[in-house]
Amino acid sequence: MDISSILQGGYQHPLSRSWQGRRQLTKSMFMYPIFITDDPNASVIIPTLPGQRRWGVNKLEEFLTPLVQKGLKSVILFGVPLNCEKDERGTPADDQNGPVILAIKKLRSLFPSLYIACDVCLCEYTSHGHCGVLFADGTIDTEPSVDRIADVAVSYAVAGAHCVAPSDMMDGRIKAIKRKLIDEGYGNKCTLMSYSAKFASSLYGPFRDAAGSAPSFGDRKCYQLPPSAKGLARRAIQRDTAEGADIIMVKPAMPYLDIIADAAQLAPDHPLACYQVSGEFAMVHAGAAAGVYELKTMAFESVESMVRAGATLILSYFTPDFLDWLEA
Ligand code: PBG
Ligand code: ZN
Repeated sequence: MDISSILQGGYQHPLSRSWQGRRQLTKSMFMYPIFITDDPNASVIIPTLPGQRRWGVNKLEEFLTPLVQKGLKSVILFGVPLNCEKDERGTPADDQNGPVILAIKKLRSLFPSLYIACDVCLCEYTSHGHCGVLFADGTIDTEPSVDRIADVAVSYAVAGAHCVAPSDMMDGRIKAIKRKLIDEGYGNKCTLMSYSAKFASSLYGPFRDAAGSAPSFGDRKCYQLPPSAKGLARRAIQRDTAEGADIIMVKPAMPYLDIIADAAQLAPDHPLACYQVSGEFAMVHAGAAAGVYELKTMAFESVESMVRAGATLILSYFTPDFLDWLEA
């Protein structure tokens, strides 16, 4: 046997196997997406998202205290308004008594060291369920969309969010949000995480059930990227870094590992997030339930692929599980 043929000596022990990654998985790499609804006492199972619920503001303490004790470092909030008047411009998005703003304030006071990010979008709050403001013919009206989204982002920053994360995919919103954050005195107080390469994916179904955010007509293909669009994704990543994004995100994650790797190379000086979306999470669970693999092993394999591709931050519904599975 040639000397150059032997690799197995390097990974014969669990510890030496753990050294083979460029970076190790840690609890602080995980950001937990949570759904906040407007019934303050809600704790409602979401059937398509195993183990996940819609939470009311009054339930957040009992829900999150054990997770914070296990090492939860960050959450991203999604508003699920069920009892509000939705309109064309998504007015309830920055209602001072809406679930997101109340939850930000509550979490800041309950858990002073928890990092609170907020998804920013209009689809949960518009009558038509699209992520922006529309012309009469149903196409996106970019300028008012971007203005409205920037206003919503600033109102979350004012309420105390450490990070705002626009998921709408409107052109120019990163620049508009950054400008407004600076003008309102939050330029140095709030991180801007851009869903830069967000694809029009079939993997958002359980989320749309959970958030009640499916569009009432049409689809999101004129703003979310086509799954084949490597070049557009690269352009979007470069645009958003130039417009002032502090963190770049790729979404979904596992079917887009090449885009994560491209982002790591295009934006090497930014943290790089990826979102293991609702359908990916449901898929890992469904495969395990069908006996295809063991849940924990596959969950690890899925997030290790993301870290290997270059992600430094993972948004995942598996976060509570990883707090149990990881040592640090
Ligand atoms: C809405 C939004 C979606 C997700 C996050 N923000 C769904 C969509 O674009 O339709 C998906 C998250 C998930 O599936 O877990 N702007
Ligand atoms: Zn949206």
